[in-house]
Amino acid sequence: MTGSPPTGRRGGPSPARAVGRRLGDRPGRGAPTIARPILVLGGTGKTGRRVAERLRTLGLPVRIGSRSGDPPFDWDLPHTWPNVVWGARAAYVTFQPDLAVPGAVEAVREFAALARENDVRRIVLLSGRGEEGAENVEQAVRESGAEWTILRSAWFHQNFSEGYLVDAVREGDVALPVAYAGEPFVDADDVAEVAVAALTEDGHAGRLYELTGPRLLTFADAVEEIAEATGRDVRFRPVSSLAYAAELEAAGVAPAFISLVTYLFREVMDGRNAWLADGVQRALGRAPRDFRDYVRRTAMAGVWGPSAAAPGETVGVTEPTAVETPVG
Ligand SMILES: NC(=O)c1ccc[n+]([C@@H]2O[C@H](COP(=O)([O-])OP(=O)(O)OC[C@H]3O[C@@H](n4cnc5c(N)ncnc54)[C@H](OP(=O)(O)O)[C@@H]3O)[C@@H](O)[C@H]2O)c1
Repeated sequence: MTGSPPTGRRGGPSPARAVGRRLGDRPGRGAPTIARPILVLGGTGKTGRRVAERLRTLGLPVRIGSRSGDPPFDWDLPHTWPNVVWGARAAYVTFQPDLAVPGAVEAVREFAALARENDVRRIVLLSGRGEEGAENVEQAVRESGAEWTILRSAWFHQNFSEGYLVDAVREGDVALPVAYAGEPFVDADDVAEVAVAALTEDGHAGRLYELTGPRLLTFADAVEEIAEATGRDVRFRPVSSLAYAAELEAAGVAPAFISLVTYLFREVMDGRNAWLADGVQRALGRAPRDFRDYVRRTAMAGVWGPSAAAPGETVGVTEPTAVETPVG
């Protein structure tokens, strides 16, 4: 891969300088082992929310690490890190805004060092496929001294319903600077199940799981399946990178986000990730969820607006396995 993303992390002191105080300095370092929580960074996001829900269902204590958490955690404000790390026994690490941005490696390395100093034994990192920056972040976690597991994930199904594509789908016009590269979209529920296994079970430490769904789909294929399931007129429109950036700018999207997404589409949607991997099968002993099932559940939940098709035509499943709720 060549080049680097044209945008950096948002402002603020470098993690190395700003972490400052270490939790090891606290009196009574470490919480009682009995109720030590599992820290879920991005615990209200697409995978983090699902990880947190599953851990709670298992009766395990969970601490959410996000800007709206209590205490708040912000990747851009390293002084907020110690309070969420303290006393945790394991951490699910999702970085914001993306592992590709400059500063990601340093931030995650610094966070992992802080975690280790404070007796966090396990780190499960959410990573992305085919991206050199993400692989550098993975290496930082491997070198941290923690029991690590890497989840190198394909694009989530839920980007169409909980991410920035949801409005485009609702409006019926999904314009993206990608053409015919196939992507093995993966379900955020599968990513979360693998994460929970790695956080709570033996046998996953030191493993890299490449997580994909069971089929390669182009964006045109994916949008067509959504249109069929909803009975709505939703179309995919390939556009140039420049035209895409101009459309986002006209819609008032922040320049840093425009730079990031155009970079990501350019770099990782060139066909390099157009192959299926077996991470879900290896980690969970079962096949990954299919995009079609996600689309059925999400259409039934009305996330993309009222379905134009008769219910019998739309789905062919009797009960949704989960209700998708847009969060972003
Ligand atoms: N989306 C994909 O298809 C995909 C695929 C592979 C890998 N990844 C990787 O997954 C990670 C998460 O991406 P995502 O798009 O799926 O996002 P996401 O997890 O849905 O992001 C939202 C979460 O991040 C928190 N958050 C946002 N800004 C934050 C900040 N500055 N500091 C701390 N927490 C913050 C949000 O809570 P608050 O608003 O309360 O802070 C929320 O919990 C990225 O590193 C990305 O590279 C994504």
